[in-house]
This record gives sequence, structure tokens and C-alpha cells, in this order.
Amino acid sequence: MKVRDSLLNGPLGFGAAPLGNMFRNIPDDEAAATVAAAWELGTRYFDTAPFYGAGLSEVRLGKELSKHERSEYLLSTKVGRLILDEVENVSERDLGEKGDIFRYGRPNKIVYDYTADGTKKSIEDSLARMNVDRIDFVWVHDIAQDFHGDDWLGVFDTARRGAFVALAELRDQGVIKGWGLGTNRVEPIELLLQLADVKPDASLLAGRYTLLDHELALQRLMPAAAAKGVDIVVGGPYSSGVLAGGRHFEYLPASKEIQAKVEKIKSLCAEYRVPIKAAALQFSLAHPAVAAIIPGASKPERIKEDHDAVKANIPGDFWRDLRARGLAASNAPLPIDR
Ligand SMILES: NC(=O)c1ccc[n+]([C@@H]2O[C@H](COP(=O)([O-])OP(=O)(O)OC[C@H]3O[C@@H](n4cnc5c(N)ncnc54)[C@H](OP(=O)(O)O)[C@@H]3O)[C@@H](O)[C@H]2O)c1
Repeated sequence: MKVRDSLLNGPLGFGAAPLGNMFRNIPDDEAAATVAAAWELGTRYFDTAPFYGAGLSEVRLGKELSKHERSEYLLSTKVGRLILDEVENVSERDLGEKGDIFRYGRPNKIVYDYTADGTKKSIEDSLARMNVDRIDFVWVHDIAQDFHGDDWLGVFDTARRGAFVALAELRDQGVIKGWGLGTNRVEPIELLLQLADVKPDASLLAGRYTLLDHELALQRLMPAAAAKGVDIVVGGPYSSGVLAGGRHFEYLPASKEIQAKVEKIKSLCAEYRVPIKAAALQFSLAHPAVAAIIPGASKPERIKEDHDAVKANIPGDFWRDLRARGLAASNAPLPIDR
């Protein structure tokens, strides 16, 4: 099933990675207030993953959403990592180049498992942590170079024979609405779309279709997804924060080069009095392949900014100027092209 046909209140969802204590120790009440603010402002699509704080994001999100009927919101989570009861020394974890961002999360041991059985176990565990009876969309998480290095193709093959088969069965049985990949990299989703025997419904592409970084996705992935009717959910639409006033790009302190590009975008925004969050979210949404955007936040006040950003009136000349100054790829669809 398509994500766009399942959305209950527009394309703006909420990405719950920060609730797993991403970058900092977030008090429970602040995390709860962030989800509550999203609900109050009308967000009805929530994305999380076992990886986010070793289950912490799912627990926190589930607790807050349990105040509402399950039929009133759309929920996605991920498979590919199991969270064990066993705890470990968090400082000794080796979870890839971004593995350290959840050092304030729960200390439970995290193990990769992209098999069919591991996929079903992961879903059972997520249902229990969130105390819900179903998940709508399931993304196979992080089969990509940033977590698996050059072995990522081997991991992809394991998932192809395991997770992909299990998820297709669950989808065909009506247990879930759909499945796909959830990655920070373009290549795995591009590869997924090329497979003749595999029929994903959608995929979550994080950080690679943003105002700051979209060229690679535009070459093949986005046109292929649009042509095949495979919805793209844009994760990390603020490039993990730097586009919204934060310090991070790709979950690390932003480099001088990135900061310089952000400054150029910011000064164009200032000229047209356009909030940079509005430019960022409306840029990602303008591609016809994009069904939803799921900015993350750990503070309740961010949520109104996100909702205002989607609704903001942006003059056509802003977009024309953005293109003319080379701040958006010449082939990137913009809201004025619709
Ligand atoms: N592999 C995958 O499948 C994958 C990978 C990455 C992301 N995702 C999904 O995409 C979602 C969104 O990604 P993301 O949360 O990593 O990044 P993001 O949406 O690009 O940016 C979120 C960050 O922006 C910051 N921010 C927002 N407004 C701000 C403001 N006014 N001033 C300063 N900072 C501001 C937030 O800070 P505060 O925390 O201070 O509010 C938060 O840390 C995730 O939650 C997850 O659901 C999936």
C-alpha cells in the first residue's frame, strides 16, 4: 500500500529518533511533551526504530501514543537490529560511524539480524515496547555503507533472502500496510528498486533528499521511485539539524564547507523573509516521489515551527533565485513547477 494513501492528516510526520536520547539525556517529561505537542498540532504519522536509544524511543513514543486510538495515527518502525535484555558497556559499543549518537540511550546490547526470523522477532519486540497491536510500515534499517562498510552488499543479500521475504509475506497477509528500506544512503534504495522479484511499497531516505544535499538522489533514485510508484519518506529533512539552526550534519558537527552552504541558503531566506525550515520542508515535499517528511525534534517548541514551515507562503521568486544561484540542482522539482 502507498504511504500517501495511508496518511491521516497530511504529509508532515514526526521522526522519533531524538527521543532515544540522541546527542543528550532528554528528560522523560520533555520527550513526552514533544510527542504531545505533535499530536496537538495534528501530526498523525510517527516513525521510530529499535535502534533509537536501544528501545527508548519506541517505549517513550508508545507511552504517549497509548492515550489515543490506534486507528487515529500511522506508525512506522524498523527491523534489522534486535535489542537484547543483556546490557553492555555503552562506551565499548561498535555500532558504525554513527553508532555513538545514542550513547545516552538504554545500555541494552544491540545485535544485527536481517533474517526472516529476526525480522518477525524484531516486530514482536517493537509491538511489546510500544504496547500496540500493529505497525503500519516497516523499514529494513541501515543496510548501507555507513553502518556495514564494504560488506553492505553481503548484508543486503542476507536481507533479500530474509527480511524482504518476511515483510512481503506480512504485507500480503495484511498484517502490515507496507515495507521498504530505511537508510541514510541512496545506493541501497536504488538497488532495491532495480530488483525484479522484490516489490517494496515505499522507502525512508534520510538526509539525502534535503535542500542541502539532493544531487545524488536526483540522478536515479528519485525518478525511479516516481516511475515505479514507490513512495519516498524523507527522513532528516534538516540534514540532522544544521538546516534548522542546529549544529549537526549527518549526525556529526557540520564542517566549514557545509556551514558555508547553509549560510548562503540562510542569506537568500533572509532576503525573502522566508523561514529556513519552510524552505527546507517545502523543498523536500516538492518532489513527486515524496509522500511524507518526518523532521525530528526533542523539544516541544520545534513542532509548531515544523507545522508553520509546511504552511508558510513562499514567493515564487525565492525558488527561482534559489535555482539561479545554484543552491538547488537545476533538475530538482520546486513548488513553482507544480
Ligand atoms: N536510516 C534511517 O532510516 C533514518 C536515518 C535518519 C533519520 N531517520 C528518520 O528521520 C527522522 C528525522 O531525522 P533527524 O531527527 O535525525 O534529523 P532532522 O529532522 O533533519 O533534524 C532534527 C534536528 O533538528 C533540530 N532542530 C529543529 N528545529 C531546530 C531549531 N529551531 N533550532 C535548532 N535545532 C533545531 C532538532 O533539535 P532538537 O533535538 O533540539 O529539537 C533535531 O535534533 C528521524 O527521527 C528518523 O525517524 C531515519
